[in-house]
Amino acid sequence: MVRRLGVILGGGLLCLSLFAGFAFAVTINHARDAPARTPAGAVYKVCNGCHSTEVMMGTPKDYNDWHDTVQRMIDRGAIGTPEEFDLVMQFLYENLTTVDVNHSDADSLRVVLNAPDSAVSAIIARRKNHPFKNLGDLETIRGLDGPALAAKKRMIFFN
Ligand code: HEC
Repeated sequence: MVRRLGVILGGGLLCLSLFAGFAFAVTINHARDAPARTPAGAVYKVCNGCHSTEVMMGTPKDYNDWHDTVQRMIDRGAIGTPEEFDLVMQFLYENLTTVDVNHSDADSLRVVLNAPDSAVSAIIARRKNHPFKNLGDLETIRGLDGPALAAKKRMIFFN
């Protein structure tokens, strides 16, 4: 009787773990197939298949160059929905796009420097007569986040 109970219990546990494993695998597959909803999620899904995302972290580019690069990746076989590619471009714009503080347009200043409109206007008003020389110079503009700019300094140019 005790042995029978053990067999039944053991069998039950085996079924349970098989089922749990199956459910887990289904969840993972589902997550992989589900459309990405965040910029980072889209990069992970669309750009992480052939090479690691490290490849792009090491190569900041201006926005047009990113556009060309992503087009080349599509030619190489990168797959995603139009919405996912929009999210990938958003990620690249916000995190890995270069900006020239003295020449870039208002949109690039706003997105790359994560700057409020008032700060963008102040930069554009000042640079005509007094071009910015370095990060310290830029940080005198109100509304900019100094530590965040320092963390992004390899993306910020003063030509
Ligand atoms: C189907 C495979 C594949 C996928 C998916 C893929 N890549 Fe690539 N990627 C390559 C290959 C092959 C190279 C090396 C040849 C070259 O540079 O074109 C490369 C190189 C790169 C480089 C280094 C060269 C350069 O131009 O700076 C970057 C950056 C890059 N990929 C970004 C991306 C991004 C962003 C995505 C997502 C949109 C992506 N890749 C998805 C195949 C892929």
